[in-house]
Amino acid sequence: MAQAVILVGGEGTRLRPLTSRQPKPVITLVDRPFMTYMLQWLRGHGVDDVIFSCGFEPVKVEEALGDGSSMGMRLRYVREPTPRGTAGALKYVDEQIPLDARFLMLNGDVLTDVDVGAQIAQHERTGAVGTLGLVAVEDPSAYGLVLCDADHAVTGFLEKPAPNQLVGIDRYLISAGIYVLQRAVLDLIPAGQNVSIEREVWPRLVGQGLAGAVADGAYWMDIGTPERYLQGTFDILEGNVRTEVLDALGAGFMAVAGDVQAHGRIVPPAHVGAGCTIAEGAHVGSLVVLGAGVTVGPGARVERAVVLDGATIGAGCEVTDCIVGPRTRIEKGAIVRGGAVIGEDVLVGEGNVLTAGIKVFPGTELPPGAIKF
Ligand code: GDD
Ligand code: MG
Repeated sequence: MAQAVILVGGEGTRLRPLTSRQPKPVITLVDRPFMTYMLQWLRGHGVDDVIFSCGFEPVKVEEALGDGSSMGMRLRYVREPTPRGTAGALKYVDEQIPLDARFLMLNGDVLTDVDVGAQIAQHERTGAVGTLGLVAVEDPSAYGLVLCDADHAVTGFLEKPAPNQLVGIDRYLISAGIYVLQRAVLDLIPAGQNVSIEREVWPRLVGQGLAGAVADGAYWMDIGTPERYLQGTFDILEGNVRTEVLDALGAGFMAVAGDVQAHGRIVPPAHVGAGCTIAEGAHVGSLVVLGAGVTVGPGARVERAVVLDGATIGAGCEVTDCIVGPRTRIEKGAIVRGGAVIGEDVLVGEGNVLTAGIKVFPGTELPPGAIKF
């Protein structure tokens, strides 16, 4: 069995307002806290002991995930006195709970079905000090770009590369935030300081035992922005990533709780939670998640969208390509689309038009017709 450290100390600023009141690891993805997907995936690869490295609000993470006994895992939570950065956080965990000779480290925001077992096997075979899981992407600018030779040795690491650093590279492999590490890596991290593993540790290990393991054909997504959160949701609904939700969706790619009152139309893939009401003439789907207790009014259209617990969509509304937070009310005829993210407990009055990636913070009240953008 194996031990893993999961970094969950970032503030999740790019996912606000979803993360305004909740830390990123426990925001709802389809029907469960995001971190549950990571834990189920890791358990499937023999990880049974997880230490969460928390920067702030560890209480909410612990409340949502507990001690792990229900999943057959041991979950522990360590809180840094001040944010230590990705390497400083690892060092601080080791000071509290000495890590095994070989352990896993993970960024806490990846939705994936990468074969970690294969990565561990390669790590053992090559005798590397650290093995970075790698995935291929079209645009590496938001990630850590990794250059490798034919023997898996890392020959270069560029965090958030600028366009001029990409010249001459024909395939972009990036760090997936999935690492297999030997304790020796900890010796490179000074204690009690803010240290970045990407900017200060990986570059020092280039040519010194840092390896890359390419995960071909696996699914991988950093859910840390609204666009990627939505895409991750759609990929779960379509079965592009292997998760337990897929079992509930079944061959018809549709899960509708037993007590749902559906008078309108539901088009798969769709996931409709307990206690929802879908009025006559309403259209829900495809690619829709309705949380528990959501009401969709007559003639409303909800498509490619996530509507979280207890939200209300009024008559004739159009809610597409967007995220609607818990307990939010969208009133009659309002339009929410184009990547808009509406936080929790918001009131969107009649006739508003919210689009172009607008973010509405929790508790806001928009009077009727206030915004048409
Ligand atoms: N405990 C702790 N303390 N955790 C932290 C801290 C800290 O000071 N800073 C960041 N984290 C956690 C975040 O919560 C997240 O889970 C992880 O470290 C990575 O931080 P992000 O802010 O999500 O980084 P990123 O997405 O821009 O880039 C990272 O991930 C990419 C893959 O998604 C880098 O590791 C890239 O190299 C990588 O390609
Ligand atoms: Mg990230």
